[in-house]
Amino acid sequence: STFKIAAVPADGVGTEVVAAGRAVLDALAAGSGGAFAFDWTEFPWGCGYYERTGRMMDEDGLERLREFDAIYFGAVGWPSVPDHTSLWGLRLKICQNFDQWANIRPVHFHPGITSPLRKADHIPLDWVVVRENSEGEYAGLGGRNLSGRGPGNEVALQTALFTERGCERIIRFAFDLARTRTRKKVSSVTKSNAQQYGMVLWDETFARVAADYPDVETESVLVDAMSAKFVLKPEDLSVVVASNLNADILSDLGSALAGSLGLAASANLNPERRFPSMFEPVHGSAPDIAGQGLANPIGAIGSAALMLDHFGLVDEAARVHKAIEATTAAGVLTPDVGGTATTDEVVASIIDHL
Ligand code: NAI
Ligand code: MG
Repeated sequence: STFKIAAVPADGVGTEVVAAGRAVLDALAAGSGGAFAFDWTEFPWGCGYYERTGRMMDEDGLERLREFDAIYFGAVGWPSVPDHTSLWGLRLKICQNFDQWANIRPVHFHPGITSPLRKADHIPLDWVVVRENSEGEYAGLGGRNLSGRGPGNEVALQTALFTERGCERIIRFAFDLARTRTRKKVSSVTKSNAQQYGMVLWDETFARVAADYPDVETESVLVDAMSAKFVLKPEDLSVVVASNLNADILSDLGSALAGSLGLAASANLNPERRFPSMFEPVHGSAPDIAGQGLANPIGAIGSAALMLDHFGLVDEAARVHKAIEATTAAGVLTPDVGGTATTDEVVASIIDHL
């Protein structure tokens, strides 16, 4: 079968790592003896597009994306455009309109990459952050200039939205995911001691849903304590479920603990499959290293492997993971993880190991 993929590289290293992921998937398809193929369409959206047209994406962009089997995304953002304009104009627009309410961000250690965690060498750490991706702190509710009193006295409101349905579906998703893993445990993260409405609704929903999964171990942890636990007791985690903002922060911490933000993969899923899902590295456009062949492509290639899983190409996804591990074990590493290899050299090694 042929899978139709919309590639949206967008900005900075996004273009470099999307090219890397495409090369790996195309090599896989070429070796499949015609069993499957990928039909790519690339869209030129992003900050450069904004500077030329005043829009982050075409007016009918969402309609055009709708017909694809998946979206493969790079990273959006560039210093010449305000970040909230670029993020809301492209990435969050796609996530919200396509109801990609589940964001999964696996973290594991790669052989040959030194983690800032001393334990990493002898404990095979492996966890997944499940992020609520449609409401919470990123619901976009609020406003500016609410005091009406002018400069120096401005009041702004940024409201988090929690619905029982929104909490329940992401929590159930986390439990279902935990059941597929060796360690059947879900850790729920809130700040319900300080945020007494939405976060308490989340905690209560978690307790109610947990009763349906007696075979899965659970814990409820405050986000400040959980950030300490990530560092001090990571081997005690399997699936970590949290609201939009908390999971965003925790997953960056997780990938840094694995060795680099450049290693982390993610999937923005519409689990009902009414809309295309989107696969992207966790990192941003990295303007500090863009255009120099320094970008670590592993986060983007790992995201391509999550896309293969989504297509049902489970064995192929496993092959990509093995090829990544063989490459890091052989010491073919970009500078962010202590090596001297270029993006292209890492990609070539991964394709070799396929
Ligand atoms: P960033 O993730 O772009 O960079 C943070 C640090 O990690 C930098 O030192 C960078 O060099 C390094 N890094 C990131 N990706 C790397 C890779 N593949 N290989 C090696 N090193 C890597 O985050 P930052 O600097 O906060 O944001 C830059 C821009 O990206 C901003 O415009 C921001 O809004 C945007 N952004 C976009 C995201 C997205 O599209 N999903 C996510 C995060 C940020
Ligand atoms: Mg983030």
